Amino acid sequence: MFSWSENYATGIQEIDKQHRKLVSIGAKLEDMLGTGDSVDYYDYILETLDELKDYTEYHFGYEEKKMEECKYENFEQHRMEHMYFVKRINKLSMEDIDSHQLGVITQTLNFLAKWLFSHILNEDKKYVHCILGNKE
Ligand SMILES: [Fe+2]
Repeated sequence: MFSWSENYATGIQEIDKQHRKLVSIGAKLEDMLGTGDSVDYYDYILETLDELKDYTEYHFGYEEKKMEECKYENFEQHRMEHMYFVKRINKLSMEDIDSHQLGVITQTLNFLAKWLFSHILNEDKKYVHCILGNKE
């Protein structure tokens, strides 16, 4: 689910770099979950889930700062979408992971991957003109 395509590029270098990083953390997590009985990897899975959560918050913060700086017209709506995503990820990492819940996490990750790519294609691309036009 988590794989990068150049179609996702916004043309804003720093944001594309951050999006790639998000995708790579998601892919790492996906690989771990796909290894079947991952009992030995729980700590690593939790750690990576935290990494995904932390990096997402950092990245959304960066985007929001940039959108505010250029007075992006759909800022509030965009921010609400970010909040929704963060809420989903937070819920995920608060669960106690056991062998049954690995399946739940995989399902949720699939959902998050779909959400993320659709967000990049449909929402992030809309602020590009604003952020690039505001270049110093
Ligand atoms: Fe965004």
